[in-house]
Parts: sequence; structure tokens; C-alpha cells
Amino acid sequence: MLTSEQNERLTRVGQGTPGGALLRRYWQAACPEKELAHDGDRKRLRVLGEDLLVYREAPGAYRCIRERYPHAAVAIATYPVEALGGLLFVYMGPQRDHPPLLPRWDVLAREDKPKRIRVMPEHHCNWLQIQENTADSVHTYYLHGHRVYQMNGGKPDRAADYFYRPIKNYDWKVSAWGVEKFLEYGGERPEVEIRPPLIFPNVLRIPEGPIEALHFRVPIDDEHTRIIWVGLSEGVPGGELTSPDRVPYVYEFDAPGTTIENVDLSTFYGQDRVVWETQGAIADRSIETLGASDRGIVLFRRMLAEQIERVERGEEPNVAVVSDPAQNVCITFAAPSSWAEAGTV
Ligand SMILES: [Fe+2]
Repeated sequence: MLTSEQNERLTRVGQGTPGGALLRRYWQAACPEKELAHDGDRKRLRVLGEDLLVYREAPGAYRCIRERYPHAAVAIATYPVEALGGLLFVYMGPQRDHPPLLPRWDVLAREDKPKRIRVMPEHHCNWLQIQENTADSVHTYYLHGHRVYQMNGGKPDRAADYFYRPIKNYDWKVSAWGVEKFLEYGGERPEVEIRPPLIFPNVLRIPEGPIEALHFRVPIDDEHTRIIWVGLSEGVPGGELTSPDRVPYVYEFDAPGTTIENVDLSTFYGQDRVVWETQGAIADRSIETLGASDRGIVLFRRMLAEQIERVERGEEPNVAVVSDPAQNVCITFAAPSSWAEAGTV
């Protein structure tokens, strides 16, 4: 449980807020690079409560300005933009002449397999609800395994079979990238599973069947979140690979009439989405009751609070920060071997 004040510190994303100051120390995914295919192409978007305009000056050269500024005499804020793995990233923190290195997560950095990008429908909730779901390791049993098992009337299903196994034990630990997750399954197929870490502060790295995926949970503002999904797939052996600036993308929109009451619950994504959004625009964590399986969430919140305090002291964050370019070629994570059989998460 958090006090209302603590909850405000962790969830608010605007300029001048403690949480917003921390998030501005990290590159945020903006849009697919292919969207700005020609010099002069522009893209308007809202990130961390700021209205931005990203535009292409020349091949591979992008800039970002803040659209609305309170005083016309004031110099317009410009933010650095970098391209990686088919996406454009924007850095909205201080020291914009010397921003931190953009971490080259494996899914982005690898060019040996085809990638694709999905920009998911806008989510009507604060980013932290979505990211906390990642630290909630056992929800895969209760939410996904159980739901799919029910929907199938108990018939076998690859994903349900994988996740609907009795959980004997679980643990979490702090790592250089965020929060490591361990799970021990019992039953007929016992296994110790080490999941890829929650990448601090707002990224999920996860294998989804044969696809290696990243989910960027980008706050649009306090009460809305954009998820940009990048998937690296096996592709066709010997098939042609797309250059990084031509990675195909799709914007996904809800069908007319979609509400949280009628979201399609047949997919893991739909099941997760209902859990995220039904907590309200900003979940009231002052009235919650946490249990033993929520220890990963507590660890993540503590990490967030500590990193916010570092920034308030004038220090830089020290989680998921890469300072040595030699270490920033392709950042990999060990994936559980049997996840490739599990199906889409
Ligand atoms: Fe989930």
C-alpha cells in the first residue's frame, strides 16, 4: 500500500513532477521511423504530457520540438531524436547536448531477423498500472492460464498448458536492468523459469512463442498510455531483411463501440488490458491490499521511489543506464528455453 502522496510521486508524468523528472532521464519510444520516410515529413504526438512535433530533416536526421510553449518569447524546446531498430526515440531530459546512450536492447539492435512494429490502441490508464503487471509474475497463471483453460472448456491449449501449471515458488531480485523474475513450476512438468527482466522504468522484454518482443509503455499523459510493440521473428530462411529505417509498422485501433466492458478476452493482450484499465485512470494504491505474490511489485515501486530520489538529489539514475559504448552493442537476456513453445503472451 502507498499513501496518496507516494502514489502521486510515482504516477504523475508531467514537467516538474518527481515521476516525470525520472521518466525524462530515459529515452522514450516515439513512433516508427518508416512513418517519416521523406525529408520534411512530420509527426505530432503527445509524450509525458507534452505536445511534440517530430520531423525528418535529412535521411537519418530527425528533430523534435515542443509544440506549445507558454511564452512565445521563450526559446522553443528541442529534444534529441535517435533512430534504432525501426523506431524513433526522443530524449526529454536535461543536458540535451549530451543525452545518455540509447540502450541497444537485442530486439532493436539485431538485424539478422525480420522485425515488425505495432502501435497499440491508446490505453485509458496511467503507465504504472501496465508496468506493474510485468512484475506480477503469477498473474500468468490466474489471469491467462485460468482464463484460456476456462474458454477452452478445459481442452488442451499450448499457452494455457504452459502457464496453467501449479506454481511452487517465485522470487524477484534487483538487477542492473530492472527486476529479475524467477518462477518454479510443479506438477507434471516441473521447471524453474527465469523470465527476462522488467526493464526499468517502462519496458517489457518478453518472448512470445517464437517471437522476441519489446513493449514500450510510453506515458501520453497521466491518464493515457501508448504501447509500442516491436517483434523479432524467425522469418523465412534466406529471406530478404528490411533495412532498419524500413521496418514495417501498423497502427491498431479499437473497433467502433469498443469499451472496457466488451474488450476481446480471447487474447492475452485483451485479458491484460482489462486488468490495467479497470483499475481506473490512476489506480488508488492507498486502498489496496497486497499479498506475498505482490513482492515483485513492491520491489519495483521501491526502485522507482529510490531512483526518483536520486534525481531529486541532482544525481542521474543508475538502473538500466548504459554508459560504456562498448557495452551497448546488443544487450541480450537469457530466455527460458521452453517459452518458445508457449504461444503468444
Ligand atoms: Fe499478462
